[in-house]
Amino acid sequence: MPPRHNALDYGELMPQSNALLRAILNAEVDGIVTIDERGLIESCNQSVEKLFGYSAAELIGHNVKLLMPPPYREEHDSHLQNYLETGHKKIIDIGREVLGRRKDGSVFPVFVRVSEVHMADRRLFTGILRDLSELKDMEKLLWEQSRAIHEANEDMLYRLALAVVCHDRQTGWHIQRTGAYSELLAISAGWSCEQAHLLRLAAPLHDIGKIGIPDAILHKPGALTPEETLVMQEHTVLGAKMLDRSMSPVLSLARDIALCHHERWDGRGYPRGLAGTGIPESARIVAVVDMFDALIHDRVYRPAWPESKVIQMILESRGTHLDPRLVDLFLPLLSEMQTLALAMPDSASTEFDDAVIADGYVWERRASASGHAGTVPAESLTHAAVSCGSGESLA
Ligand SMILES: [Fe+2]
Ligand SMILES: [Fe+2]
Repeated sequence: MPPRHNALDYGELMPQSNALLRAILNAEVDGIVTIDERGLIESCNQSVEKLFGYSAAELIGHNVKLLMPPPYREEHDSHLQNYLETGHKKIIDIGREVLGRRKDGSVFPVFVRVSEVHMADRRLFTGILRDLSELKDMEKLLWEQSRAIHEANEDMLYRLALAVVCHDRQTGWHIQRTGAYSELLAISAGWSCEQAHLLRLAAPLHDIGKIGIPDAILHKPGALTPEETLVMQEHTVLGAKMLDRSMSPVLSLARDIALCHHERWDGRGYPRGLAGTGIPESARIVAVVDMFDALIHDRVYRPAWPESKVIQMILESRGTHLDPRLVDLFLPLLSEMQTLALAMPDSASTEFDDAVIADGYVWERRASASGHAGTVPAESLTHAAVSCGSGESLA
């Protein structure tokens, strides 16, 4: 049978209950502070003392603004006043992140949730305060670690693209320009900035499959035989195999581009003869900018084309080689594309200097390896005209 209590019994239990309640409040990790309608502190637990460095005696009877840095003091006054006058719950029963101020003046992040408490005829406010310092430190550490991983990934992608450049004897700038143009055109085509940035990283890998093409064919002086042309065209399939089945979004994107950057809008490209929107848009974008970059730069066998001739060539390719919509989006971007090209010029004396274009910053890392410097031999470009199928080198 449950124990029966009369009024006297409860009276006897009250001191014990208060002691128990105090023990519970003091065992609580979160700070608990109660204030009156004027903002004066009525009580606080030991966690508040630990969090802020004040003793309870230094806090009780003082305004709670003592625990806040200046910007929050004014805000606190106006919020409390507003609530008392209108009952509008701007900060009551709503958890939010603020800054706390310790006795030594240092500031730290706090999660605070304030509730209204009615005691007899008095209105009090109790705030639960949770120190977010450790959480914020962990968040910062995680962010720094993920940023470092992200940068390492981008650097590895860049170096992978440079490996193709080494092997194919292109200029390091071409792959950087291709990435930058692709990002610009993708944004114009409605891609999100995040996706367009991935494309910027993926586009330079479009010719990665050339690593698997025998040197005798890749660097053959003179025209390729039909059989050699077929082997050369295999660089699309080889590139896709190298990048296949990756969980990485950027490598998946690079795989599509490697496989499809020589497909044509009219279906006369290779390796699969895909047509129209059957070709991934990423590869259609790279096809446009790769052609543009080839035309506006000097080749050993011809000087750069004048702008009018470049525009004419791109227009002639509209709907045949290139996606007509992307050509229409590309032409208004011509001056921006040329600005990007000027920022990353091929130069005879720095033919193999490499560059990283990251978030709008251009910085150079001059390759020191001897044998990488120098101009591209004429014979190394001969095969490109064949592989691109347009009579022009899309290096
Ligand atoms: Fe290619
Ligand atoms: Fe290219």
